[in-house]
Amino acid sequence: MTRTAVLAGIGSWLPPQLVTNEQLEGRLDTTDAWIRSRTGVHRRYIAPDDMETSDLAVGAGARALKSSGDAHVDTVIVATTTPDRPCPGTAPTVAARLGLGHAAAYDVSAVCTGFLYALASAAGLIASGVSRRALVIGAETFSRIVDPDDRTTSVIFGDGAGAVVLRGGDPDEPGALGPCVLGSDGEGRDLITVAPPGPRAAAGAEPSYFTMQGKRVFWLAVQRMGECAQDVLGQAGWDTADVDHLVSHQANQRITLRLADEIGIPQERSVTNIADVGNTAGASIPLALDQAHAKGTFKTGDRLLLTAFGGGLTWGATALTWPDIAR
Ligand code: COA
Repeated sequence: MTRTAVLAGIGSWLPPQLVTNEQLEGRLDTTDAWIRSRTGVHRRYIAPDDMETSDLAVGAGARALKSSGDAHVDTVIVATTTPDRPCPGTAPTVAARLGLGHAAAYDVSAVCTGFLYALASAAGLIASGVSRRALVIGAETFSRIVDPDDRTTSVIFGDGAGAVVLRGGDPDEPGALGPCVLGSDGEGRDLITVAPPGPRAAAGAEPSYFTMQGKRVFWLAVQRMGECAQDVLGQAGWDTADVDHLVSHQANQRITLRLADEIGIPQERSVTNIADVGNTAGASIPLALDQAHAKGTFKTGDRLLLTAFGGGLTWGATALTWPDIAR
């Protein structure tokens, strides 16, 4: 029998070091006023040198498992742009450290859309019977690939992780995932990129860091997230008025608000946490979901529309109803 993936648990984890805009003013040619007004970011968390993406993923994953009331899953998917190593994937390490035995474990690389790609993969594994319960984590140490001296990127990004547990269930129960839409356009790969050799260049070579063509990306993000969100609404049979919460990738507060206007959803229904954590790339949607859940923003049965856009270029959207999960 085909099973629908149902949200059963959620958690997030932030590294300990808080960096405020005022601290950045001290070492970059920028101001708190510019960062707030152009991006919406007030502060972000940064992983210390001895902390890896897997450490953040384990923190978020453990909380999601605890919240689900069952410490066992048979599948672990980690969405990340910043794996611990180029090889092997980060997910097997995370699964082992969480005591998940020989669970299937792999990474998904779709930059800021990574979590939605991973969620869709897990939903497919559950629907086909390959998996019964899956842990889906978005985890990033983006500070490792951003040039700390580049004011155009280092003020925006932060580190963090968010995770959800999915189980098999019925399409009409609270927590059920609705339709998923995913897309990509590799013609735009240079718009958001870390060109070779990367930040871990061999000794003597000049390292290269994350770059983004901000203005082009801004408008493409609004357009693509708007299109795929509308597509999901159509497939779900929902009207914009049915959407209680829009949870979009937290790339920039101005993008989030513009997107709500574009789709025709009141801006106050848009969930935002970019002020407190910055753009955490693949971690941003589960982190925003968990923080909003902790504040009591969602009621059981509320309808959520999720959408993201990122490097690749990649984009995606999905819909779900909010389950009754303990806070
Ligand atoms: N502090 C002060 N000034 C800064 C600055 C900073 N941190 N960063 C850039 N500037 C300057 C620029 O040099 C430029 O100066 P100029 O006009 O003298 O050339 C000016 O501010 C405007 O720069 P611009 O890049 O046009 O700003 P913007 O309003 O487009 O904002 C982004 C830049 C990156 C915040 C914005 O374009 C953005 O969020 N883009 C999309 C990000 C996204 O969606 N990513 C998705 C994948 S994560």
